[in-house]
Amino acid sequence: MKLRSIFVVVVLFVVTVISAAAQAKPSAADQQARQRADALLAKMTLDEKIGQMNQLFFFPFQPEASFVDGIRKGQTGSLLFVTDPAVTNRLQKVAVTESRLKIPLIFGFDVIHGFHTIFPVPLAMAASWDPAMVERSQAVAASEARSVGINWTFAPMVDIARDPRWGRIVEGAGEDPYLGSAMSAAQVRGFQGDRIGAPGHLLACVKHFAGYGAAEGGRDYDASNISDAQMWNVYLPPFKAAVDAGVGSLMSAYMDLNDVPATGNRWLLTDVLRKDWKFDGFVVSDADAVHSLIPHGYARDDADAAMKAFSAGVNMEMNFNANVYVKNLANAVNAKQISEKQIDDMVRPILEAKIKLGLFENPYVDEAKVKPTFDDPSHRAAAKLAAVRSAVLLKNQDALLPLNRTAYKKVAVLGPLADSRQDTLGSWTFAMDIGQTATVLSGIRSKLGAAAQVDYAPGVQINRGTSSIFDMMLKEKHPPVWPEAQAADEFKKAVDLAKDADIAIMVLGENQDMSGEYASRSAIDLPGRQLELLKAVQATGKPVVLVMFNGRPLDLTWADENIPAILEAWYPGTDGGNAVADLLFGDAVPGGKLPVTWIRNAGQIPFYYSHNLTQNPAEEVKRYWDQKVVPLYPFGYGLSYTAFAYSDLKVAKPEFKVGAETEVTVDVKNTGSRAGDEVVQLYIHQQAGSASRPVRELKGFERVTLAPGETKTVRFKLGPAELRYWSASVRDWVQEAETFDVWAGGDSTAALHSTFKVVK
Ligand code: BGC
Repeated sequence: MKLRSIFVVVVLFVVTVISAAAQAKPSAADQQARQRADALLAKMTLDEKIGQMNQLFFFPFQPEASFVDGIRKGQTGSLLFVTDPAVTNRLQKVAVTESRLKIPLIFGFDVIHGFHTIFPVPLAMAASWDPAMVERSQAVAASEARSVGINWTFAPMVDIARDPRWGRIVEGAGEDPYLGSAMSAAQVRGFQGDRIGAPGHLLACVKHFAGYGAAEGGRDYDASNISDAQMWNVYLPPFKAAVDAGVGSLMSAYMDLNDVPATGNRWLLTDVLRKDWKFDGFVVSDADAVHSLIPHGYARDDADAAMKAFSAGVNMEMNFNANVYVKNLANAVNAKQISEKQIDDMVRPILEAKIKLGLFENPYVDEAKVKPTFDDPSHRAAAKLAAVRSAVLLKNQDALLPLNRTAYKKVAVLGPLADSRQDTLGSWTFAMDIGQTATVLSGIRSKLGAAAQVDYAPGVQINRGTSSIFDMMLKEKHPPVWPEAQAADEFKKAVDLAKDADIAIMVLGENQDMSGEYASRSAIDLPGRQLELLKAVQATGKPVVLVMFNGRPLDLTWADENIPAILEAWYPGTDGGNAVADLLFGDAVPGGKLPVTWIRNAGQIPFYYSHNLTQNPAEEVKRYWDQKVVPLYPFGYGLSYTAFAYSDLKVAKPEFKVGAETEVTVDVKNTGSRAGDEVVQLYIHQQAGSASRPVRELKGFERVTLAPGETKTVRFKLGPAELRYWSASVRDWVQEAETFDVWAGGDSTAALHSTFKVVK
């Protein structure tokens, strides 16, 4: 048989070793938490146990009093969206003084990229290729959220996304499982600290398990159909990384995965998550996702939905008021469909989390500490640093950037996003003081001071035209749509400003509600009349710098051909405008790199760098006759104000055995005249095997800072963890004795190449 002739080592030992290391013996604290949880369970009635599995939304429009009775009766174990510490304390008091067993509530919230101080959106943070910075950023976010009484964040979102139409691509780390795994683990460490219950930290919740990013057509919530190999090699690794980093909870996704909705998917939630990965935290459903098994056409009714989600492995039901668990699980026990022991097993990890978080000892929050926490100046500085490190310089013809601060006496700042505070922050921002936001306009004004006249005109308006699910939570409402005559005037005003200025800095892209949840689109062009405005401003003959605010790749083909400088700022957060000003005027040097392939238009979707080869790789660029089959900017791409050269790619062991490892080194030199950062990237390709492997796969990266003329040798390790994959023909993890290509360089098209051989 063919398979027998292929030397395949099923690297179960790797899995075993890695898993064993990750879940070494339970610590004393874990054991103690278990004992306390068991002691509590022994006292609880069945209804009280089921109450712990119930999590309710708390929206500002809902009267606080409507939650009291359920908490008092022990029917509610958790609330989400309480952000007022006084409310937290009042409701917690009901739980710990008036409920029979005094079990505290756990308060959850979407702390996605900051709480009071907003950091760049997660896709931007991934563009930093700087996990240590991301970890510190999420630690800041955790401390702010914890100060108001939030104990639990529904983050990190680690869904791999290869379709920019999907609005939620902004919430993750992009298209690549290796970068995605690094960002996943970093965020878990940042949110949770060195253990669950570390002071000033939160319980993290990795989401959405799993495959949500592959929604068909990029339409939010649509079904995902993903092969097993893609699941194991692409979509699951960032979740595994979170579990290995000790994440305490996980959220089951909304969508249908290969005909079984994720929230009723026992293979995902039990076989993979608990049996294979030994996850010992708890699973919360996405909002109403237990009840939604009915509209999915998977569950018959609420009772069936409760059984299906429970048996799949969902510990806690997040819901508005469906209360599917509360209303149905006791009946299921009484009818002997499930045992009370099964209920205990599902409730235990929830209680353990509350115990580890210290909620029994410290259920309340000190309201006096909130303001000092929010006002800590290091938080804003961290947010600015994150914005600086996340920006990606896409184009810089003739070194137009950085701008000389004294060279321009009249600066026109143009575009609908240049002075929009809400849009500087991005989606999933609710609890900030929006007044503290630095827009690009304000950043440039404070950078230039009296040295230049800075004029502003939005030029055009952009609008979804449909409501977003977060409209009611917006801090600033969208301005009314201009009547036609005003629209014409505003457009002209912007162009006139450019004519009269020495330089135009345009901030274009998408409103924050154009990406995020329920924010998918069918096209990726610049919405509204922005391209028209860009063309009109370019036609003035004045130098134009384009700053982009967006959470997905957009069609920049015209801009790339016609605009000399393009800086991708994403949604940069509270101090984003100052960060952008620093970058534009050379007080900071861009060093971010794209975490997604930047395609040319929506017709290329899906398009990602690590695709498989065809029978005719040389003809790859001709795969469409009407369109280039290369992206506008490749994955991993980004420029600097300085330049880098690579040399001396060395594989320490050109031949080594399966299970062994080699070091790979490469020299990177700053050949320019100023200090700057480069993200050194390592890619591999397995030339043959029991399955075909992607043309390139990222397997290492390091962001380094180099002084002018300085050279650094960057070291990578390639061993079983990097070389194994899940083979579609073996149907298991394998590491194969084959020849590999290896490349190192500054993006996924890196030319510096070598090979090595893995032998039996
Ligand atoms: C989203 C989750 C989020 C939850 C709670 C859902 O609609 O899919 O990502 O954590 O709401 O806000």
